[in-house]
Amino acid sequence: MARARGRTAVVWRWDNAWPTYGMTISMESPTEQPEQSGIGRLELVEFPHPALLRRTRPLVHIDEGVCDAVEQMFEIMYEAGGIGLAANQVGLPYRLFVVNLEARPEAGEELVFINPSLSRPRGTAVQEEGCLSLPGLRMDVRRPEKVVLDAWSLDGEAIHLDLDGMLARVVQHEFDHLEGKLFTDRLPEAAALEVRRSLDTFREVFLGRQSRGEVPGDDVLAARLDRLEGERCTGA
Ligand code: NI
Repeated sequence: MARARGRTAVVWRWDNAWPTYGMTISMESPTEQPEQSGIGRLELVEFPHPALLRRTRPLVHIDEGVCDAVEQMFEIMYEAGGIGLAANQVGLPYRLFVVNLEARPEAGEELVFINPSLSRPRGTAVQEEGCLSLPGLRMDVRRPEKVVLDAWSLDGEAIHLDLDGMLARVVQHEFDHLEGKLFTDRLPEAAALEVRRSLDTFREVFLGRQSRGEVPGDDVLAARLDRLEGERCTGA
């Protein structure tokens, strides 16, 4: 699988809307791309930032902004000590996540999954999970033990993996993010009640930051997500 770092950015696009597999890769200079803004400086967002609660959209072309985003996502993930990070955890409404099970740049493999789909869930496993967007909260989560992942790499190669163990767990957690879900949405009733107060606290903290102007209001955040979708996704 492709490593994200140390690569020359390849600019390419799907000419047909996902999920058509007839993908064409074309080398284009960024100046030939439609009008786009840069990705800018990304940062981790916490629950209940609107980006986390909204289903992400498939990317139809990969430009330098997306490559820049992937680089930043690995940096942010390592900084926070995580092993997986979804694009909407850094405020980007794209179907893309990154994983490194070793949680540090000098070890493990840096995996990038674009427009992923999951199939063939098998077995059941319960394991404790946490989330960089819900710092401090950890709960047991029941998920299929094995799952098949199809996705694209950053340079347009098709990925097909039959996963189990920790990688199956992380991929399903990150895939949930892309669907606008958090691991707290997967808890049985008693455990869901247990975390309700924690989630309320996260909401109060976020609203407080918005009221102090440290975070833009939801309407501004939603408008940014709409703009980013319009730049790189299929017609919304
Ligand atoms: Ni998470």
